[in-house]
Amino acid sequence: MLSIKENQPVVFSAELLAKFGEIVSRYPEGRQKSALLPVLHLVQAEYGWVSTEAMDAVAAYLNIRPIEVYEVATFYTMYFLEPRGKYTLEVCRTGPCCLVGAERIMKHIEQRLGVRENEVTTDGLFSWRGVECMAACGYGPVLQIGPEYTFYENLTEESVDQMIDTLRNKAQHEA
Ligand code: FES
Repeated sequence: MLSIKENQPVVFSAELLAKFGEIVSRYPEGRQKSALLPVLHLVQAEYGWVSTEAMDAVAAYLNIRPIEVYEVATFYTMYFLEPRGKYTLEVCRTGPCCLVGAERIMKHIEQRLGVRENEVTTDGLFSWRGVECMAACGYGPVLQIGPEYTFYENLTEESVDQMIDTLRNKAQHEA
């Protein structure tokens, strides 16, 4: 995954532009805005998140106004508008999950990782955030871990520790 920083101009690679082109070609002439969601997903897969500069570059590519990209990217929570760790733990913080300990789990994650919500650990591996209902209300507390969106139910402090250790080991082996 390439990295971009805030306020850094974004120039898409030829490979990424070819992928954009393939998506745009699925839509009728003049309807290139329809490619916006998948193009933003490709940008996020390439850089890990979607910066304002990346959104501006997408707007220029699709020949639409930047605001048209911002309003879409800020609406859908699957787009990350801030840098994030390689793995992002997203904990459901809606009522039913809170009743069975979601807040306790988020506190535990914060202590275990040593970063607050939306911050990134110094090794770049982890970030976490609370999100709204993930439609598994009977199995809370629940979380999902991007980028693959693996789903975990009936969380305990122990199961969270175990998944963090597993991901750390995985990252070490991949390094
Ligand atoms: Fe947590 Fe629905 S309230 S999944």
